[in-house]
Amino acid sequence: MDAARSVSTEDTRVTIREINNSGPFSTLADDVRKGFSRSPKQLPPKYFYDDRGSRLFERICSAPEYYPTRTENALLEQKSASIIAHVKPSSILELGSGSSRKTTHLLNACDQQQCYSKYLPFDVCGDIMVSAGKHLTCRYDWLEVEAHVGDYCRDLPALPGDDGPRLVAFLGGTIGNFGEDEALAFLRGIHAIMRDEDRLLIGADRAKDTEVLHAAYNDAQGYTAAFNLNILEVINRELGAQFNLDLFEHHAFFNEPASRIEMHLRSKSDQMVYIRDLDMHVSFKRGETVLTEISRKFAPGALTHVLDQAGFVIERHFEPGNNYYSLILARPKSGTAARYQASPDRLAV
Ligand code: SAH
Ligand code: TRP
Repeated sequence: MDAARSVSTEDTRVTIREINNSGPFSTLADDVRKGFSRSPKQLPPKYFYDDRGSRLFERICSAPEYYPTRTENALLEQKSASIIAHVKPSSILELGSGSSRKTTHLLNACDQQQCYSKYLPFDVCGDIMVSAGKHLTCRYDWLEVEAHVGDYCRDLPALPGDDGPRLVAFLGGTIGNFGEDEALAFLRGIHAIMRDEDRLLIGADRAKDTEVLHAAYNDAQGYTAAFNLNILEVINRELGAQFNLDLFEHHAFFNEPASRIEMHLRSKSDQMVYIRDLDMHVSFKRGETVLTEISRKFAPGALTHVLDQAGFVIERHFEPGNNYYSLILARPKSGTAARYQASPDRLAV
């Protein structure tokens, strides 16, 4: 079992625990070396989210072109009361929680129904969870926030268990950021930490007009471009690299046959970049791209299929009038969920 370090913030109702399975950024060096050695070049998206990246993502979410956030927000606003009444969670575990802004609808419903759940946000970015946690504990005087810093692809088994029903939320369409096999493996990993009475609440973006999709990933204010380029800033800072951000540009498009948005960074010239900590020279041809993120856009059948394969049954499926988005409440197929859950050792610090 992984050791975990607990740090109390000034607000005693917000606790932050780092899952010390080698630390969220310790594999940056390996990932960058591997990613730049492949052809085509690629970087793992979790490194977007340093403090600045998380804040830029917030800007993307409020851009008029970026429909997923407000669509999912509207679905949650309308349906949280019935979701909470149905699940009656004693805890809400949110994977990739970011600012937790949309989660307030679930917590409002808890408040109204006097269902005083504990909130467990889980993200690679600790800063954003601390500010979200402080905001939320001010808003709800009954709320305890136990934030976990870690990588949800690796650290789910190290999360604490719980006595009552748990609502596991995975919002924002983030499931689309995984390839097909990875998404299945990820959902199976969630299934493995759930018990029969637990529920999964998952948001997924749907296939739609190319123009609508294109605009969402190429906002006019340039927040998406700045967010994408920020990953080079992270590599400069963390690994002593010398990327000149003016020599790369954001390039996002809808790959229709694969039904996915692809986010690339495109080199504007032939260039060579030195990464000090890796003692590595990386060469880029003019027009060469680095794939930084995919965002898959689903047909409803594909969602049912992947959830079924991972051991879930859909209980409720909410979508807006324009079918832009799916919000799904799913339960583990009976008898397939974990019967007990191991808890990590908690240190009294
Ligand atoms: N749920 C929020 C944020 C979505 S963006 C919303 O719907 O708006 C994706 C979030 O997942 C970011 O906050 C990012 O920091 C986090 N994240 C990305 N990769 C992660 C990983 N491997 N492990 C844990 N969190 C991750
Ligand atoms: N989960 C978000 C999505 O796929 C992430 C995202 C939005 C994103 N805009 C981006 C990731 C731009 C990289 C670059 O919609």
